[in-house]
Amino acid sequence: MKARLEELRAEALGELQAVASQGALNDLRVKYLGKKGALTEILRGMGALSAEERPVIGGVANEVRGAIEAVIEEKQIAFQREETEGRLREETIDVTLPGRKLPTGSVHPLNKVAQEIEDVFIGLGYTIAEGPEVETDYYNFEALNLPKNHPARDMQDSFYVTDEILMRTHTSPVQVRTMKASAGMTPVKVICPGKVYRRDDDDATHSFQFNQIEGLVIGKGIRMSDLKGTLLQFVQQMFGSQAQIRLRPSFFPFTEPSAEVDVTCVQCAGDGCRMCKQTGWLEILGCGMVHPRVLEMGGYDPEEVTGFAFGMGVERIALLKYGIDDIRHFYSNDLRFLGQFARM
Ligand code: DAH
Repeated sequence: MKARLEELRAEALGELQAVASQGALNDLRVKYLGKKGALTEILRGMGALSAEERPVIGGVANEVRGAIEAVIEEKQIAFQREETEGRLREETIDVTLPGRKLPTGSVHPLNKVAQEIEDVFIGLGYTIAEGPEVETDYYNFEALNLPKNHPARDMQDSFYVTDEILMRTHTSPVQVRTMKASAGMTPVKVICPGKVYRRDDDDATHSFQFNQIEGLVIGKGIRMSDLKGTLLQFVQQMFGSQAQIRLRPSFFPFTEPSAEVDVTCVQCAGDGCRMCKQTGWLEILGCGMVHPRVLEMGGYDPEEVTGFAFGMGVERIALLKYGIDDIRHFYSNDLRFLGQFARM
């Protein structure tokens, strides 16, 4: 019996040495140590042994069991280690892999240009004033020296809500609102950005809704040369220090005298090209000295103070600055268009 046990040990250890998988190891455990395994099989014959032999054979049997168990244990640990290492190898993160880009939004070109314009004037000591987009006829027209039936109202076909209320056609009503809020104090130095509305058919250069920035300065001894110097400063900060301006006489009911301002063509620097229709100049805004009647309606004494005002279209400035040929690009929400301004 002892010989059979030794044989069993040799056979088991031999097979265990060659075992190649966790599954095979489990099978061997059952084969040798299981309830119906080889060792149990042999030990079943113990009953036939004499009282002296039994402990001796029992000892050998335990030793054989111990030896087989030890090897199984050893193999078990080895398999586990291998498996863990394999998993770690598979799960390794390659930190050199480039990250996935998350699409991010960017400031809309119109807001960007409006902010730039605001920054220039804030740098010149202006503050920002805002007014309602739904405006009364009084502020939009009358207080700006455009009485009812004044022919100049035709210049701005309007969206009326009632006879007395309309979508503002320009940001100029904020001039009057600011004057009233300032209650005769000087100086007044504001810019007023905002949306305006006109009954226009949309095309490459017109939109029924667009953005303006108004400027208003009131104080003692404000002169047209102050207006001109301010606008030159603005234009050079927006378009570069080589930019020049020229003022052409014009008409606005709320300013006297009035002027239209041109900037040297951003494309040809004044030589003449298609963009400026060979003139070398591009029109960018309207301006003038605040009309005495407007000062009066705003609560200021035109004998005491003077002022200048100007108004510009943000879209127009943006079109010129970026060389865009159609205003509708600004409103179409086409990411291919908008994305171009992301890093500018
Ligand atoms: N409100 C005028 C428009 O929408 C622009 C304008 C012209 C504003 C002259 C002014 C100004 O303040 O002085 O066409």
